[in-house]
Amino acid sequence: MSADEAALAAAEAAYVESRGVVGGEADGDDRAVEAALRPTSLAEVIGQERVREQLSLVLEAARARERAPDHVLLSGPPGLGKTTLAMIIAAEMSTPLRLTSGPAITHAGDLAAILSGMNDGDVLFVDEIHRMSRPAEEMLYMAMEDFRVDVVIGKGPGATAIPLEIPPFTLVGATTRAGLLPGPLRDRFGFTAHLEFYEVGELDQIVRRSAGLLGVDLTDEGAAEIASRSRGTPRIANRLLRRVRDFAQVRADGVVTLGVAHQALDLYEVDESGLDRLDRAVLDVLCRRFAGGPVGVSTLAVAVGEERETVEEVAEPFLVRCGFLARTPRGRVATPAAWQHLGLTAPANAPFGSPPAVSAGEPGLFDTDE
Ligand SMILES: Nc1ncnc2c1ncn2[C@@H]1O[C@H](COP(=O)(O)OP(=O)(O)O)[C@@H](O)[C@H]1O
Ligand SMILES: [Mg+2]
Repeated sequence: MSADEAALAAAEAAYVESRGVVGGEADGDDRAVEAALRPTSLAEVIGQERVREQLSLVLEAARARERAPDHVLLSGPPGLGKTTLAMIIAAEMSTPLRLTSGPAITHAGDLAAILSGMNDGDVLFVDEIHRMSRPAEEMLYMAMEDFRVDVVIGKGPGATAIPLEIPPFTLVGATTRAGLLPGPLRDRFGFTAHLEFYEVGELDQIVRRSAGLLGVDLTDEGAAEIASRSRGTPRIANRLLRRVRDFAQVRADGVVTLGVAHQALDLYEVDESGLDRLDRAVLDVLCRRFAGGPVGVSTLAVAVGEERETVEEVAEPFLVRCGFLARTPRGRVATPAAWQHLGLTAPANAPFGSPPAVSAGEPGLFDTDE
């Protein structure tokens, strides 16, 4: 692990909650292996075509002008490649990357200390940027726009603000919910990339690439099986690959075949659609306890014993993407596919699609329980 990666591991540890073998967040085991599996250039990144092309234009233009690129905001569910892209931005610009995270910046002074230590053209990566404290956020607006901050010395009537110049830098922010960022902060990013869940074909390439790097022997069908159950998420694909490899070593001859992958994934409770325990719990509660909805996301979170944030940022986007859950002005509803997936028969009065569904990418626009 490099110093950068060690710092990142520490920053991530501030937030990570372990959810077993599935779940998009990184655990300690992931972080160690991820360092080895991360693509290190844009050309190596699999999928995310549009983001990759847009980003490569932004970086190429900046290089031609010999200026730090515009600030970049990366948003999307955990495990889709935000940290990877931040590292790639710095690598492609051949500049050092400084890492921190929103929860680590509790005072404006913490941010001032980081900013004043930056050099011309450095990339500052702020993970979980939506969790930064308000005063730090306000300091960041000014730093992003004017490359200057006011450091306040003293308290009360005697306090003075000392302006401090900062060399031009590029801020890369990552967030699981762009909608939670205050408008003024969002507006100061010159480029915003929203990362989407990956297609099975892309995950298949990722699994093969990782297997190559880790020296795992796997068949085409084995790779395809892992890819199709990875919940559209590269981090989960890499994690499942490691768990399936364990299974292949202990219970078979070490080769990851379709049969081995199948048995291992059943053992780890990942279903054919890639739904994990939390995803299934949410659907189950929605259908069995709330008759398919509509029900508010906070109520759902309480019912499954999870934080509202986790349900909204981790489970819900994937359920919407699979077509199992819809967000409506009156709350979340289960779709016919959800009832079918659980092997249940929907009641005659199930609320399918009556009110128009809104996209999962939007912040809790119509939450009934906010
Ligand atoms: N496009 C990609 N191609 C190949 N591997 C990827 C890609 N995106 C992510 N990964 C893998 O998934 C892991 C998690 O990615 P990461 O950037 O840490 O996600 P995030 O910061 O969004 O939670 C990385 O270790 C990397 O190996
Ligand atoms: Mg990350």
